[in-house]
Amino acid sequence: MFTARQTFTSFQRRAFSASSRQSSKVTVLGASGGIGQPLSLLLKLNPRVTELALYDIRGAPGVAADISHINTNSKDIKVTGYIPTTEGLREALSGTEVVLIPAGVPRKPGMTRDDLFNTNASIVRDLAKAAADSAPDANILVISNPVNSTVPIVAEIFKSRGVYNPKRLFGVTSLDVVRASRFISEVKGTNPANENVTVVGGHSGVTIVPLISQSNHPNISGETLDKLVNRIQFGGDEVVKAKDGAGSATLSMAMAGARFAESLLKASQGQKGVIEPTFVESPLYKEKGIDFFASRVELGPKGVEKIYPIGKINDYEQKLVDACLIDLRKNIEKGP
Ligand code: NAI
Repeated sequence: MFTARQTFTSFQRRAFSASSRQSSKVTVLGASGGIGQPLSLLLKLNPRVTELALYDIRGAPGVAADISHINTNSKDIKVTGYIPTTEGLREALSGTEVVLIPAGVPRKPGMTRDDLFNTNASIVRDLAKAAADSAPDANILVISNPVNSTVPIVAEIFKSRGVYNPKRLFGVTSLDVVRASRFISEVKGTNPANENVTVVGGHSGVTIVPLISQSNHPNISGETLDKLVNRIQFGGDEVVKAKDGAGSATLSMAMAGARFAESLLKASQGQKGVIEPTFVESPLYKEKGIDFFASRVELGPKGVEKIYPIGKINDYEQKLVDACLIDLRKNIEKGP
C-alpha cells in the first residue's frame, strides 16, 4: 500500500517522464501584468511545461526569479525573464511551442473592449511581428482585447511575412465558457464542474453567444434565460465594475488561459479528443464574409484538428447569432 507521499511522488515521476519525452517551451508576452503573473504561476505548476519564457516591457526578470523558486517540476525546468530589447524578445520566442499574449491595457469602468483597440492593436502588431520572425511555427494564443480584432491583426502580420498557418492561431475565449458554466450552475443550484455550455461567436458583448439549448438545462426560458444570457455576455463588466478602475478579470482569465495552454500541450503530446472553444479562422460563416468565428475546436499535434459546426439551435439562439454576426463582421474588419 502506498502512503500519500509515495503516491504523490510516483504521480510526479510519471508526469516528469511524460514531460521529459516532449520538451515544451511556453512563452508569455505581457508576463508582469494582472493576467501575466498568475498565468505564469499556473504554467509553472504544469508538468507539461519544461521551459517558461517570460517577457514584458517591465519587470519580467523579477517575476521569473520569484516563480523559479517554486519547487514544482523537474530540476531541469527553466524559468527565464527577458529584458525588453529586440534581442530579449527574440530569445523569449525562439524555439517556443506556445506563445500566450496578454500584453496590453485592460478596461476601466464604462469602457467596451473595442475602446481598447487603439492602444492594444499596435502592441499586438509589434509582438506578432516578433513572433512571426522568431517563432513562425508556434501556437499563438491571443488574450489581449479586443480579441475579435487582435486575432485578425496577428493573421495579417503572419500573412505579410509568408508564415501564416491558420491552424496555429487562436483567440482565447475560454473565460466565456468558464463563466457560462459557473453562472448556469448558480441558476440551477448545480456543481459548475458538471456544467458545460457551448459558447460561440466572438469575445465581446453580443458577439458572445451561449447555446443554452445544448446545455444540461435546455428548458431554461423567459426572464431567467434572458438574464442568464445577458450575464454570460456581459459578465466581464461585473469584474471591471468591482475592481473600480484597477482593471478587468485577471485571476479567472489566468485560469482559463492556463487551461487552454494545457489542452494544446495535451493534444500536441498525442492525447486525442481534446476539445476547446476558441476563436479561429473558420469556414462556418465564410460565405457571409466572416473569416473568424469561435466554436468548439478539436486540437491536435498540428493545432486545429477539426472545427465543429454550431449544431442545432433554436429561434432564440438564431436571433443571438444574427446579432453577433453584425458586430463580429465590424470587429474583424476593424482589425488589420
Ligand atoms: P495589465 O495592464 O495588468 O497587464 C498588461 C501587461 O502588458 C503589463 O505588464 C504591461 O507592461 C505589458 N505590456 C504592455 N505593452 C507590452 C509590450 N509591447 N510587450 C510586452 N508587454 C507589454 O492588463 P491585464 O489585466 O493583464 O490585461 C491584459 C489584456 O488582456 C487586456 O487587453 C485585457 O483586456 C485582456 N483580457 C482578455 C480576456 C479574454 O478573455 N481574452 C479577459 C480579461 C482581459
